[in-house]
Amino acid sequence: MMGSREKNYEDLIFPFCDEVGKYEKLDKIGQGTFGEVFKARHKKTKKIVALKKVLMDNEKEGFPITALREIKILQQLKHDNVVKLNEICRTKPTVYNRWHSTFYLVFDFCEHDLAGLLSNYNVKFSLGEIKKVMQQLLEGLFYIHSSKILHRDMKAANVLITKTGTLKLADFGLARAFSQRNGQPNRFTNRVVTLWYRPPELLLGERNYGPPIDLWGAGCIMAEMWTRTPIMQGSTEQHQLNLISQLCGSITPEVWPGVENLPLYNTMELSKIHKRKVKERLKPYVRDPHACDLIDKMLTLDASKRIDADSSLNHDFFWVDPLPCDLGKMLSHHTHSMFEFLATPRRGKQQQQQQPTQSQQSQASHSSQQMSSSQSTGQSQQGGSRRSGHRPSASASVASMSSCPERIF
Ligand SMILES: Nc1ncnc2c1ncn2[C@@H]1O[C@H](COP(=O)(O)OP(=O)(O)OP(=O)(O)O)[C@@H](O)[C@H]1O
Ligand SMILES: [Mg+2]
Repeated sequence: MMGSREKNYEDLIFPFCDEVGKYEKLDKIGQGTFGEVFKARHKKTKKIVALKKVLMDNEKEGFPITALREIKILQQLKHDNVVKLNEICRTKPTVYNRWHSTFYLVFDFCEHDLAGLLSNYNVKFSLGEIKKVMQQLLEGLFYIHSSKILHRDMKAANVLITKTGTLKLADFGLARAFSQRNGQPNRFTNRVVTLWYRPPELLLGERNYGPPIDLWGAGCIMAEMWTRTPIMQGSTEQHQLNLISQLCGSITPEVWPGVENLPLYNTMELSKIHKRKVKERLKPYVRDPHACDLIDKMLTLDASKRIDADSSLNHDFFWVDPLPCDLGKMLSHHTHSMFEFLATPRRGKQQQQQQPTQSQQSQASHSSQQMSSSQSTGQSQQGGSRRSGHRPSASASVASMSSCPERIF
């Protein structure tokens, strides 16, 4: 017999939070640190959406604050190059889930993510198409930064692309609002941004950071458009700093005044011998000199000198022939969705890729593939669960994939 308390739960009405049962789940398309993502179809309207499950596991105190933050930020943002949050849905509280609803964020569905597209050699971007990808990515960043939001997890898997070629910045799970509090330095956590895309200031413990952290990630993603695999795949913070120094030159007060005051400057090993080689090392992949120049400016060590989204959009790269051109035609040849979760690994050696944490307390990390660095530092490599372990068996969309290089430098 159902007690009156339980009966009351069942009768509770959530006027602004529909039941997720109005959607039918089709495929699992993502497994993030903080929950699963499904492709789903509205049973009546047939509209296709993405459902991102809110992970409640460690929540004794109700709805997770991190998910609330993501929702609040997504509700505030409205731009063609930012993913659209349509609604929040919930499961019905029943005796079977001990009266605990599961909540889902419901997004417009995008057919691909950039990591999935780059994993597939059959997907070939022309220079004009790469310009269109980067232009939309920077328009999105310009918009969120103007709205005083930092993304804090720029990486190819968090960049979605619709079948008609519209790019959407996604995954605002680590995003936060920022403002300059009348000259007072901010004290944000520096445990943000996936390691391979993490800028040097965060690796050195900076807590008073801002929009340039996202431009560093944009630079890594831009280079990846040609290399097809992340350009700096460190296995520890120290290793990541080594890789950055080998590409961008030694981190010294000469090129970066004030770096000596950062909390970890004396803790980390910073070799003094490296020359900056961004253009030289990228040239074999990125033959366009304007592209090399823009990547070089995005990968500036000193955040105060790093190019911002607005100046990037004004860079000659976007204004000389070939001009940015629509992705729709190229994508129309690819009828199956491509997501990082479904893709053939882009890297040979699979290890744990360090994910940022949402809070200092939650040390959740998630597994992803990783290639071995050609310039090993001899540091201990972290072991980790292999993503192939939770990759579904070959679906039609991945069966014909030829995977991309394991290492580039
Ligand atoms: N609206 C969407 N349309 C299509 N696919 C999506 C959508 N939102 C997310 N995905 C897919 O699900 C994956 C995980 O989503 P998201 O990045 O938002 O979750 P997360 O748990 O924060 O992930 P992670 O911890 O891996 O960064 C994305 O990389 C993408 O492949
Ligand atoms: Mg993500």
